[in-house]
Amino acid sequence: MVNVAILGFGTVGSGVAEVLTGHESSIERKADGLIRLKYILDVRDFPDSPFADRFVKDFAVIENDPEVDIVVETIGGAGVALDFTRRALAAGKSVVTSNKELVATHGYELNQLAREKGVCYLFEASVGGGIPIIRPLSQCLAANEILEIYGILNGTTNYILTRMIRAGLSFDAALAEAQEKGYAERDPSADVDGHDACRKICILAAIAFGRHIYPEQVPTQGIAGVTLADVDYAESAGKKIKLLGRAIRREDGKVCAYVAPHLVDQANPLAGVEDVFNAISVRGDAIGDVMFYGRGAGKLPTASAVVADVIDVARNMGHRKALSWEPGGEDAACGTDALASRWYVRAKAPVDALRSALPGCKLLARREGGGDESACLTGSPLTQGELEQALAGLECRSVIRVLD
Ligand code: NDP
Ligand code: HSE
Repeated sequence: MVNVAILGFGTVGSGVAEVLTGHESSIERKADGLIRLKYILDVRDFPDSPFADRFVKDFAVIENDPEVDIVVETIGGAGVALDFTRRALAAGKSVVTSNKELVATHGYELNQLAREKGVCYLFEASVGGGIPIIRPLSQCLAANEILEIYGILNGTTNYILTRMIRAGLSFDAALAEAQEKGYAERDPSADVDGHDACRKICILAAIAFGRHIYPEQVPTQGIAGVTLADVDYAESAGKKIKLLGRAIRREDGKVCAYVAPHLVDQANPLAGVEDVFNAISVRGDAIGDVMFYGRGAGKLPTASAVVADVIDVARNMGHRKALSWEPGGEDAACGTDALASRWYVRAKAPVDALRSALPGCKLLARREGGGDESACLTGSPLTQGELEQALAGLECRSVIRVLD
């Protein structure tokens, strides 16, 4: 029998308890033995929970119980979660987590500690919620040199954009719905400002390209500046606006990773990814393009990924499942300065001013008319610096990359 302790009985932790106990017999078959939920640690009391008898308040109870084999960390953040994870690994227990902030900031160190102790540190749920992506990337695509990864990595912002466009909800109303459904981070600005997607692209880049990329090395922009006017103009050009995380391996080995809204062509499968769904596209030198799609957040989809990791550890008890990469450093990542693309530009300017600033651009029109502003797509790929130079003197209201 394998004993599990869950740290943090919130959206994900309670989902893990539900799935682990609800599917007990099929999980026992798949894990080659019984998996017992022995403890749940939370700061709050849950007297009405069916698991009320398993709650503890002191992590030392779990840490010092030799029967506990696997610790599931679903508290979140890089504070107490880091302390508990280090202590669990140091005590020889495997750790499974959905906490992308911790993996993105301390993943290298925690992997090393797991390696030293001969235990596992697994985090399938940290990217893409229920979508299998970490294991496929590290195992099924292992034969490839990965060239690029990009995708919709945040369910909350995709949900907000979808609800604003489809149901005409205000930004705040759409965010409130996402929070009610348990999709949003404790501080939802982590979703809205792109930091959550940033942490996820760091994790994917580390696995794909073999070095730790830290969140502060990744230029990050969220959806706060995206307006319904931009959505309309994008639609008139046959495109949708999506918040993407992207990591590209350059020829010099550096990784160009960033998070920003993009105009995505309607013909690209990413354009059809709506609500809380995520989609991640991976380009390998042998396989070409492969895409992963599914629910990117929420209690049970995320629990599905966490419990799969628990089963994996239980089935391979005593054998370390290694996921590791090299340390990061200033030479691991580069900014987006050299990355040329076409751009969408909306400016308070007459069309002639845009035309002369951006020769060859394609002017856009929206149903309501443009008022005092004009919008266009640039004709040829430009770096951000080249674009800024061309637009100097114009009052730009929105500048968004085009994914070509
Ligand atoms: P929640 O806030 O719902 O759950 C966290 C739980 O941990 C809460 O019950 C919280 O209690 C408790 N907690 C806080 N501090 C402590 C502590 N010191 N000791 C014990 N328990 C504590 O978060 P989620 O379940 O949404 O997210 C958990 C992690 O999973 C995060 O890293 C998140 O980014 C990640 N994740 C979330 C997904 C989702 O869809 N929600 C999807 C994928 C990943 P209290 O509320 O009283 O503070
Ligand atoms: N807040 C995150 C999201 C949870 O909305 O994608 C899943 O990681």
